[in-house]
Amino acid sequence: MQKVSIIGLGYVGLPLALAIEKSGKYEVVGYDISEKQVKKILDKQSPITDETAQKELKELDLHATIDEKEIKGSDYYIICVPTPVLDDYTPDYTPVISAGETIAKYLEKGQTVILESTVNPGTCEEILLPVLEKGSGLKAGKDFNIAMCPERINPGDPKWNVYNIPRNIGSLIPQKTKEVADFYRSFLDAPINEVSSIKIAEATKIVENAFRDINIAYVNELAKSFDAMGIDLIETLKGSSNKPFSFMVHWPGRGVGGHCIAVDPYYLIKRAAESGFDHKLLKMAREVNNSMPQYTVERLQDALNEVKLPINGTKIALLGLSYKEDIADLRESPCLEIREILEKMGADLLVYDPFVPDMSNVKSLKEALDNCEGVVVATAHKKFGDLTKEISKRKNIKVVVDGMNKLDKKEIEKAGIIYRGIGK
Ligand SMILES: NC(=O)c1ccc[n+]([C@@H]2O[C@H](COP(=O)([O-])OP(=O)(O)OC[C@H]3O[C@@H](n4cnc5c(N)ncnc54)[C@H](O)[C@@H]3O)[C@@H](O)[C@H]2O)c1
Repeated sequence: MQKVSIIGLGYVGLPLALAIEKSGKYEVVGYDISEKQVKKILDKQSPITDETAQKELKELDLHATIDEKEIKGSDYYIICVPTPVLDDYTPDYTPVISAGETIAKYLEKGQTVILESTVNPGTCEEILLPVLEKGSGLKAGKDFNIAMCPERINPGDPKWNVYNIPRNIGSLIPQKTKEVADFYRSFLDAPINEVSSIKIAEATKIVENAFRDINIAYVNELAKSFDAMGIDLIETLKGSSNKPFSFMVHWPGRGVGGHCIAVDPYYLIKRAAESGFDHKLLKMAREVNNSMPQYTVERLQDALNEVKLPINGTKIALLGLSYKEDIADLRESPCLEIREILEKMGADLLVYDPFVPDMSNVKSLKEALDNCEGVVVATAHKKFGDLTKEISKRKNIKVVVDGMNKLDKKEIEKAGIIYRGIGK
């Protein structure tokens, strides 16, 4: 039986490790440097918000460890570690390098190292390869293979998951790309596309995420312009969406978050700059999307102004902290920035996120809504229930900022509450 080690058991690594374990075809070792993460997994408690992972953890007997020696003798080492940015928005390759250093200690001839983390084109060959060669004394492309298979998982998505999202795979030894692809085919139902090089595989993922960032920036910019002109962008976009070709709708909101869209474009920007190319459009998209938390606060200020209230000292309910609905992930969350700006401006905040109780300062939606004059819906979790109804029935609420345009504007206004959306 072949052995597979997954390095990093988070949103990407854990569902993958479970899928391989579920196939019953491999000896699987899940390795993570976080004792907390591993302990939870061994206790069959998913450390990530993922219903399938939670169910499979209970059903399967996934072996997780913080002992790196246990990865020794693996046919495949799959790296699923974070790829964040530093404070100056340049790529932080530290986790990839340290995962590479760990693997290098145990790497033997004939084995394959696969990277699933999102990286710029060139990372496998320029960053990972030298680390693996140095630590192992082996020659990449001759003694061992390196492959890139970017993960596209969308946490919380009931339809698309690790099993059915198509994959792209490129490898350092082109003759061995099919072998790596066949390995993935042995435990996934999804189509596996073999591409001609590692760089192409790396680029596919970063292009997808930059595409999304640019399109979101476009509608976010439209939101600002349409708000200024007094035109409902949401209704406009719904109208534009009935074009059956060449239009793909994206929605404006209070900013882009998460470990991918808000981060990955910087990897491409930096690497292209090293090759002498300036990604002006991508930089501009990042700038627009990064400006949205401030814009959300300006919408609140504008609404409060109508009822002659300052932000300073006014009780504001901030609903939702995670970057997206129905999960607890706080990485790069624009809601945290909204909170920070409001705090600096002296708002008396009632923060509530049912997924992040530790960072909430009230215990329920009711407590937040009963005691505020203004509301900012930053992330509209399903657990909030019918927010339009909950907000409309409270006489104490004077203004609402609908950060993701999920509320019924007419109903809110009918209740005498001032409504501001993002482009609505
Ligand atoms: N979260 C997503 O939706 C998503 C989707 C597709 C791709 N990605 C990409 O996948 C990669 C991983 O993201 P994630 O969301 O799973 O991150 P995560 O933070 O949820 O998990 C990463 C895990 O790696 C562990 N780790 C860090 N350094 C390590 C090391 N040297 N050795 C062993 N373990 C180590 C951490 O303790 C953590 O448990 C990133 O590049 C990300 O951009 C993420």
